[in-house]
Amino acid sequence: MESVGVGLLGLGTVGTAVARRLIDEWELLGERAGATPVLRSVAVRDMSRARDVDLKNAKLSDDARAVVADPALAIIVEAIGGTDPATALIESALRAGKAVVTANKAVMAASGPRLLGLAAEHGAHLYFEASVGAGLPIIGLLQGSLLGDRIAVLDCVINGTTNVILTRMRTPGTSFDAALADAQRRGFAEADPSLDVDGWDAAHKLVILAWLALDAHIAPEAVDRVGIREVGGADVVALAQLGYRVRLLAHAERASEGAVHLRVRPTAVATGQLLHEVDDADNAVIISSDLAATVMVRGLGAGGASTASAVVSDIVTAVRERNAPPARARSARPDVALMSDEDVEVAGYVRVRLSAEADARALVLQALEDRGLAVDAAVDGSESELIVLTGLAPRAVHDRALETLDTLTSVDKILGALDRVEA
Ligand code: NDP
Ligand code: HSE
Repeated sequence: MESVGVGLLGLGTVGTAVARRLIDEWELLGERAGATPVLRSVAVRDMSRARDVDLKNAKLSDDARAVVADPALAIIVEAIGGTDPATALIESALRAGKAVVTANKAVMAASGPRLLGLAAEHGAHLYFEASVGAGLPIIGLLQGSLLGDRIAVLDCVINGTTNVILTRMRTPGTSFDAALADAQRRGFAEADPSLDVDGWDAAHKLVILAWLALDAHIAPEAVDRVGIREVGGADVVALAQLGYRVRLLAHAERASEGAVHLRVRPTAVATGQLLHEVDDADNAVIISSDLAATVMVRGLGAGGASTASAVVSDIVTAVRERNAPPARARSARPDVALMSDEDVEVAGYVRVRLSAEADARALVLQALEDRGLAVDAAVDGSESELIVLTGLAPRAVHDRALETLDTLTSVDKILGALDRVEA
């Protein structure tokens, strides 16, 4: 059977799992692809590090550029991460007419439409299924099965690391650092975990999804983004007792006038809402569209094996399509209008410690209503704590109401505040 040379850049969590699959299952993959993808060359940063995979006949080097330039390699797999030097390496491979498979959401969020244009210019293919949700087939779904739909809303859990941390925090006394260390040990976290914790990784993925689903390519910096550093364990536990689970929710929507809104924020998700059950490193994407109505994809969204599933599938596709012209790139309007974050309607949760002032509870609830926030529920906690579930209102109204609470003599302290979604 014909063979097709593959070069792999990076041999960390993802690269190792990809190399193992290519080496262990070459025969099966060859049958499926119609020609055998053969791993011939691997580039790493540090040649002295011990590796967790037997590379057999593949050559190991620390020269990624040489791997990209090697004429014996028709497919380049980028599993380095970050934008530099990954972007330049991908560009070189595409300019040389090679197929590129990448798991890199930072690169695809910043430069995806441009890189697909470059690929088309040079008759090359660019595949990036692993960049969102690891093994969840969400990119294929948006680029294939739902091409006839108009998609209005995406609601997602698309960062495994923060979902592991928030899941573990439901157990009282869990330390944030220990939960993050667990996600790192299991290979879920980015090399720089602040990308996960501060919501950048989810923002990158949301930008990619919104590009494919809403035809709008937004800079990652324009996403309304709040990470999970300020989420208190006491809020996660209190919300769990009320039937809510805190998730780093990624939400994208297109308003009827065409403006779009993308946000990544810690959010209390009610029992019965589809994302409520998505615990630990599971990810899920809910697509709301005019024809298919509601479609949900859920599965393990991080880790070497799950990511290798998407990367190796893309390699098989690249072998199959090696003689085909590149598919038409999805259009992306970079000039699309953004909805003002302040105008977007959200529901809320706030936990305060009341002062000893007479009627403090009633005064707090009255102040919220006076500021235009409906009180959906008020729950008394121990030690003068009051939890209020506030109704749907523009974010600016919530922000102003919190500012008011901060000035009230009936409030000792605002202990926590989060967005909230109901079933
Ligand atoms: P790792 O940090 O585990 O691995 C990165 C690899 O890249 C290492 O082998 C490193 O070499 C190598 N590397 C770094 N710089 C260079 C360079 N200049 N030249 C050659 N090799 C280099 O990262 P992951 O495997 O976790 O992630 C890789 C990519 O996949 C990222 O884009 C990430 O966002 C994405 N991804 C990760 C998932 C996950 O669950 N881990 C899931 C989905 C996507 P060395 O080993 O010598 O240090
Ligand atoms: N760091 C990412 C996460 C890896 O935790 O979801 C998967 O893209």
